[in-house]
Amino acid sequence: MTKLRPIALRCEHHAAPMGLNRPAPRFDWALEGGGHNRCQSAFRLVVGAGETVLWDSGKVRSSRTRQIEYAGDVLASDMQCAWTVMVWNEEDAASDWADAQHFRTGLMQPEDWQAQWIARYFVLPAGREAPADNTYDNRWQARPADHLRRDFATAERPVRATAYVSALGLYELYLNGERVDDAVMAPGWTDYHQRVEYQSYDVTDMVVAGANTIGALVGEGWYSGRVGHNQRRAGNHYGGRPALLCQLHLEYADGRIETIVSDKQWTTSQGPVCYSDFLMGEQYDARLEMPGWTEPGFDASRWQPVEVFAPDPRPPHLEASRAPQVRETVRFEGRYLRQAKTGGHIYDFGQNIAGYVALELSGKAGDRFTLRHGEVLDGEGELYVANLRHAVATDHYIAKGEGREHFKPRFTFHGFRYAELTLPDGSSPDDVTLTGIAIHNDLPRTASMRTGLDMVNQLLSNIEWSQRDNFISVPTDCPQRDERYGWSADAQVFWKTAGYVMDVSAFLEKWFEDIAEAQLPDGAFTDVAPSKPLNPYRITAQPGAPGWGDAPVILAWQHWLRYGDRALVEKHYDRLVAWLKHIADANPDHLRINAVYNNYGDWLSVGPASDRTMVATAYWVLVADLMAKLSGVAGRADMVAHYKAQAKAVRAAFIAAFVDDDGRITGDTQTAYLLALDFAILPADLHRKAAAHLLRKLDEAEGHLQTGFLGVKHLCPVLSDIGSPQRAYDLLLNETYPSWGFSIAQGATTIWERWDGWTRENGFQSANMNSFNHYAYGAVGEWLYARVAGIDWDEDAPGFSSIRMRPLFDKRLGWIEAHYDAPTGRIESAWRIAGEIVTWDIRIPPNCAARIELPRAPLSIHAGEAALPLTGATTTLGSGRYTLTIPI
Ligand code: BGC
Repeated sequence: MTKLRPIALRCEHHAAPMGLNRPAPRFDWALEGGGHNRCQSAFRLVVGAGETVLWDSGKVRSSRTRQIEYAGDVLASDMQCAWTVMVWNEEDAASDWADAQHFRTGLMQPEDWQAQWIARYFVLPAGREAPADNTYDNRWQARPADHLRRDFATAERPVRATAYVSALGLYELYLNGERVDDAVMAPGWTDYHQRVEYQSYDVTDMVVAGANTIGALVGEGWYSGRVGHNQRRAGNHYGGRPALLCQLHLEYADGRIETIVSDKQWTTSQGPVCYSDFLMGEQYDARLEMPGWTEPGFDASRWQPVEVFAPDPRPPHLEASRAPQVRETVRFEGRYLRQAKTGGHIYDFGQNIAGYVALELSGKAGDRFTLRHGEVLDGEGELYVANLRHAVATDHYIAKGEGREHFKPRFTFHGFRYAELTLPDGSSPDDVTLTGIAIHNDLPRTASMRTGLDMVNQLLSNIEWSQRDNFISVPTDCPQRDERYGWSADAQVFWKTAGYVMDVSAFLEKWFEDIAEAQLPDGAFTDVAPSKPLNPYRITAQPGAPGWGDAPVILAWQHWLRYGDRALVEKHYDRLVAWLKHIADANPDHLRINAVYNNYGDWLSVGPASDRTMVATAYWVLVADLMAKLSGVAGRADMVAHYKAQAKAVRAAFIAAFVDDDGRITGDTQTAYLLALDFAILPADLHRKAAAHLLRKLDEAEGHLQTGFLGVKHLCPVLSDIGSPQRAYDLLLNETYPSWGFSIAQGATTIWERWDGWTRENGFQSANMNSFNHYAYGAVGEWLYARVAGIDWDEDAPGFSSIRMRPLFDKRLGWIEAHYDAPTGRIESAWRIAGEIVTWDIRIPPNCAARIELPRAPLSIHAGEAALPLTGATTTLGSGRYTLTIPI
């Protein structure tokens, strides 16, 4: 048998983390190796720094490839480490060492920081115009971006240079005229009163012997900028004065370490970025540029000294950023459409994105080029911006009159597919090119799927783009209007889908810190995290509604199932317990009548509304069940029985209060039956009757869905589980309102917030709440991957060491091709229907097995040339490639 090969080495869920938040990092790898039934019998992992071996695990007899915890010498801060692994196969034959991977430890102790928070007081220089806004007085006043710089000299070139940086606000860091990294919106959104993330950059190649200059541009961002839809306080949610923290470590050949830190030696000024704000947009006056401000020799004599700044109410805790940074990922050329009634020129970028437009233009000094952004056009082809509510989403570029000029906003982003460009007099569209740039946390893409139907392929694309567009530091509800909060139920219903499309492990670890910090003293999780901007004037944040506050329990469970990562569950277990206690204390009769604050029910469903107490109590059953399982994962066997008993009591209360003997459930809505069925609330006979009621509800709606945010996730999985997969496919392929296909038939390139976001009969839904880019209804994606492609986790073997493969075939789809890069390796599934036969090709990674569950017994199973014995509709296969033929 050939050797196995360790690949996709990961440390703390990253290929090469630049800072750790735990003293003992965890290592993962996947395996590659031809043939079938390949297994790892042992591994040896080595971690070193320079010539020093810090840990050598020796040969460990184990098939584990995930979450191997470091157990070597204590790791110091600011260390550059490398690691590698070798494995032994099923015949005890050793592999070669894997290509080494690197990680930096970062500044792991608070005392490692000598840098000080530095800022510039807010003084509007003479002659600078305040940004005009369309409705409100100066609380919408966005402030200019601050330039901060410092010169420093080195006697020699350092052998290693690392910059550790963060900001209260947003920053771009420069060294000797160059940006140190292309991340945008750094350091990201956290509750700056509690925690801020820092980034680490290897700048060894940028520091020279002699004169150097370090500089930063600092903007408002989530810290002091306009966030959310709270009119009374549009900005300054965390503070009114953005600040920088920067510490540069220069390591010399003789081992000496010199640090250049943010302190009183820095100076500051303001420049071309007159304001840059998430909701306002950006105004950039190129005439105010200061060429060379980040280079030695720049005349900064008229710059002001910075102020050393003590963050209020206390310096936030500094942690290494957990998730991959927000980056520019995809560019879209602006296609000229027409001149609008406003006189502006409309451009189509072909995809609804979160990001901004880069301009290349020619103009005279002082010429103003204005860009407005919108997701859709109205009936007359004009830019439709009413649904942006108070998001002004307008960028202004004032030219300096020097040849071809380039503009790209710094500290703002918009949710848009179209832009309207207003030109200065005498200028023509021919003088300008527009490029739409999408930004989001640059998480590794882990799956792709194509099918025989364009509409379904468009749906898959819309799901992915709504994920991309809403993964900007936190998983938000929408990227365009004055909201963009980390709404938790949207995330939990979508999370299984999200985990296929991208590696969300590190992203969730970061957001779980936000969720934890937002949790209220009485144990309530909040509706959104970070929570501050939602109710800036409330003493406490808005406690989570059923389905919303429940999200952390559901997310922790999914994180465990997908990544086999126990650490997150263990770390936040007590918080989950506090939430369940919060529910139980408020509802002693096991009916979740008192949702304490909000109860949104099955948000944005169409047709009859689901009973909110029924929905809430159904969710209580779910989270009590999950807590029994999570208690096992967290090693809290004592709590397993407690939650099993709680789930049993709530189940009984649910059935007594909401379920008739014929299986009819209070409210008689699709979602009522979906939750009861998918949460396994009912005994077998009532379960069967409820399933029949669900089908009746579909018939009554003429085969249309009626579900809202909470019901939609369960539609197709439940129909498949109750033996009506064809009904699930009917819903998938439907193109009349309400359906996924309806929005696509209207040209949607992302998932709409509302089924009736736009209809021929009524036009646009109320502008008060009508986003064309909410991922909640994209929760159907999990069914496409888990049941159509048949690639699903196995609850009995978390982390994809065992794979559940139970595809559902449909002639109308014709064929599918999909892969998912699970933590254990790439899983492939491709089926094609010819006549009455499905041919299904699969790939199972080494060291994994798959539980195959087919709708009918296969006619043949081939492992390469070899025909395998048939064992009926279910079987288990080891690693390798297989071809199965199945009657349709
Ligand atoms: C948000 C949704 C959220 C809902 C809860 C809306 O404003 O956009 O994402 O789930 O509020 O009520």
